[in-house]
Amino acid sequence: MPPLDFFISQWTPLPTAPMGPVLKGKTVVLTGANSGIGLAAAHQLAALEPDMLILACRNIKTGDAALASVLKQSPNVNAAVWELDLASFESVKAFAIRANDELDRVDLAILNAGISPNRTAPMKATGDGHEVTHQVNVLATTLLALLLTPALQRSAAPHLVITSSEVHGWADSSPIAAPLHAGRSILADFDEVALYNSQERYFVSKLLLQLVVRRLIPALPRVVITSVNPGMCLTNLMRDVNLSSLADLLEVLPFAPMMPFMRGAGRGAAMLVLAAIAEESAEYWHVGVASAAPSVFMATMSGMRACDQYFAEVCALCEKLAPGCTEVLELPRSLGSVS
Ligand SMILES: NC(=O)c1ccc[n+]([C@@H]2O[C@H](COP(=O)([O-])OP(=O)(O)OC[C@H]3O[C@@H](n4cnc5c(N)ncnc54)[C@H](OP(=O)(O)O)[C@@H]3O)[C@@H](O)[C@H]2O)c1
Repeated sequence: MPPLDFFISQWTPLPTAPMGPVLKGKTVVLTGANSGIGLAAAHQLAALEPDMLILACRNIKTGDAALASVLKQSPNVNAAVWELDLASFESVKAFAIRANDELDRVDLAILNAGISPNRTAPMKATGDGHEVTHQVNVLATTLLALLLTPALQRSAAPHLVITSSEVHGWADSSPIAAPLHAGRSILADFDEVALYNSQERYFVSKLLLQLVVRRLIPALPRVVITSVNPGMCLTNLMRDVNLSSLADLLEVLPFAPMMPFMRGAGRGAAMLVLAAIAEESAEYWHVGVASAAPSVFMATMSGMRACDQYFAEVCALCEKLAPGCTEVLELPRSLGSVS
C-alpha cells in the first residue's frame, strides 16, 4: 500500500498550466505523444502555439491518429509525427539525426514515453539486448536526451522535461545496492534474466531514471532540466495486464484502493507543460512544484555512489552507441571519463 502522502497529494490542488501563445517561436519535441499523459500534453502544448510540435511515436498509425485529434482542436498548429522506437537504439539515433538535420534548434523536449511491464510475465529483451523496461524508460531516454542536447543548446532558453514517477521512492533499492557493493555493473545486473523481478521493475526503472537526472542536471547547466511526477493518472500504462488471467488480477488487486484517487491524464500532462516554462532545473517536481525526491536510498551514501556509478555506466554505453554524444556533458573530474 502506498504511503498516506500519496493519497493526500493526489487530491492536492495543482497549479494551473500556462495559457496563451507561451510557446510562440518555439520548437517542441514530445515522446509518447499518442497515448495517455503524452496525448493530453500534445493537446495542451498545441494550444500554446509552438512554431513546430513534433509528436515522437513508435507507431506512425497511432501517431497520425493523435495528430488528427490535435489538429482538430488546434487547426493552425504546425505539427508532425516522427517515428521513434525507444526499444531500438538505431531508431533513437535516426530520430536525433533527423532532429539535428531538420530543426534549427529544439527549445523544449519532453521525454515522456515509458512502459510498465506485465507483473507476472517473464523478462523481455529488446533487439539491443537490454531488458525492455530498462531500455525504454532509462537507457534510450538518456541517449535521446544526450543526442538532442546540441539542438537544445542552440535554443536561447532550452528546456528538457523528463516524466518521472513517485513510485521511484517506493522502489526496492537492493537491486541497485547489491551490484554497487559487490563491485559489479549496475547496468548489467538489470539485463540479467536471473535477477529480473517483474513486480519491481517499473518502480526501480523510475529510480534509475532519477539517478541519471541527478547527475544530468549539473552536467548540462545551460539546459533547464525538470523531472516531473505527473501523479497517478488514468492512462494505458497498465495495458499489459491480462484481465482474464487470475495471476494478473491478483497482482493488480492491491492497487484497487488507489483508483478513486487517480487523476485524469490531462491533469498529469499539465504538470509536464508547466515544467516547460520552469526557471531553473529541479530533480523532482511533485504536485507542480520542485520538491525533494522521496527516495530514501538517494539520500544515503550508497545512493550517492550509485548515482555516480550508474550515470557513468549509462554514459559509457551511450558513448559506445553514439561516439561523441557525451561531449556535451560538463562532468566533474571524478566522473570525467565515460569510456
Ligand atoms: N499513468 C500514471 O499514473 C503515471 C504516473 C507517473 C508516471 N507515469 C509516466 O508517464 C509516462 C507516460 O505514461 P502513460 O501513463 O501516459 O502511459 P501510456 O498511456 O501507456 O503512454 C505511454 C506512451 O509511451 C509510448 N511508448 C512505449 N514504449 C515505447 C517505445 N518503445 N518507443 C517509443 N514510445 C514508446 C507509448 O507508445 P505506444 O502507445 O505506441 O505503446 C505511449 O505513447 C511514462 O513515462 C510513465 O512511466 C505515468
